[in-house]
Amino acid sequence: MSESAQLTIDGKSYELPIIEGTEQERAIDISKLRGISGITTIDPGFKNTGSTKSAITFLDGEKGILRYRGYSIEELAERSTFLEVAYLLIYGELPTEQQFEDWRSAITMHTLVHEEIKDILDGFPSNAHPMGVLSSLASALTAFYPKSLDPKRSMKEVDLSIIRIIAKMPTMAAWTYKNEIGHPVNYPDNRLNYCENFIKMMFATPAEEYHVDPVLADALDKLLILHADHEQNCSTSTVRIVGSSQASLYSSVSAGISALWGPLHGGANQAVIEMLEGIKASGGDADKYLDKAKDKNDPFRLMGFGHRVYKNYDPRATIIKKATDEVLGKLGVNDPVLDIAKRLEEAALSDDYFVSRRLYPNVDFYSGIIYRAMGIPTEMFTVMFTLGRLPGWIAQWKEMRENHEPIGRPRQVYTGHKNRPYVDLAER
Ligand code: CMC
Repeated sequence: MSESAQLTIDGKSYELPIIEGTEQERAIDISKLRGISGITTIDPGFKNTGSTKSAITFLDGEKGILRYRGYSIEELAERSTFLEVAYLLIYGELPTEQQFEDWRSAITMHTLVHEEIKDILDGFPSNAHPMGVLSSLASALTAFYPKSLDPKRSMKEVDLSIIRIIAKMPTMAAWTYKNEIGHPVNYPDNRLNYCENFIKMMFATPAEEYHVDPVLADALDKLLILHADHEQNCSTSTVRIVGSSQASLYSSVSAGISALWGPLHGGANQAVIEMLEGIKASGGDADKYLDKAKDKNDPFRLMGFGHRVYKNYDPRATIIKKATDEVLGKLGVNDPVLDIAKRLEEAALSDDYFVSRRLYPNVDFYSGIIYRAMGIPTEMFTVMFTLGRLPGWIAQWKEMRENHEPIGRPRQVYTGHKNRPYVDLAER
């Protein structure tokens, strides 16, 4: 196969190298194009622009394949644990027993957050959306750990920042919820594992003893694995681009949380439940919503459907759909919106609009139904996504630094006014 591409502009030919990844993905390297031709490229939304070479996650959207560091998402969801997957993503290999034990115990040791974080939390009104609060708290960690501000300092310091943020995120996440409902926060209980600890901090109250249901902890662990990384998506690209200015890990993650919040990205899981509730309230008329989604004059979209890279069933959605039936069954929950979701999916998958555009359910279509069955309130769904995506952001931030990537700084094609003279205020 050819190793270069010829580009002809105004009769002049330029040779551009073609690079190939380990899964035979090919890309034209245009990084020198402007230098040799004075011409730039444009691709709004980066629909066909690779921003980096990455060895973390492989995704084939046509075939519906997702692998972390070469391991299939199906195998990891079935056989691994979230903390092990986090180690795999961040350090590149599955840990040995000793490495895992060191990793797990270091994370357990750092679950407590500084008491003054509570003062910051108290400053937020109780109706603040938990994602906004969490993004602020993640950024506030820079104030408590100022050495993290200079990620060039030492690898040891970076590793400590990694452990701290993985350890403290569940504590801060659960506290955003406690702030919202006006209850006292719970401190971590380090006898529990990562997911059990989070669930206890979410739901325990001083009024009664609380025991974590293992069904909830196992379901959460699986969901977090499924969300752990997804190559160069909106929030991950944000984390990499913020980090490329040599900003700290905590501020890069804080930016990632803000990017994830939007309804077209991680916020879709909240939007899906709100949509399903809307369908239920309108008497279960799924067709009305399908028609709205197809109407180009209506901004409504079928939430939880479609994906920038999957043009096939999202493999995470397949696993979550199966898990939804299992978890609801084990918890004895009968949620009418699950039937609505299944009917909606069936109708969409036999509708020419969705079929011709290859729009399938994505990871967010069923995840909210499990979260709801677990008792997690709707506005916390994207916080759950954050907990899952955190190791992916960290792995991508670390890779970006280790590859010595240049600062992220796209170009543009300017379409504004040409040079014009300034007019004094009195003369306008
Ligand atoms: N409902 C109705 N039409 C849709 C939808 C949808 N959910 N998604 C895409 N389309 C249509 C879109 O209108 C366009 O039609 P046309 O070609 O006639 O103009 C066509 O499909 C291609 O869509 P696009 O907007 O060009 O695709 P994109 O890659 O820019 O957007 C997306 C991807 C995920 C933002 C979009 O599919 C969407 O808005 N989905 C709903 C929100 C959602 O579920 N987001 C969660 C994504 S998965 C979790 C994550 O990783 O964040």
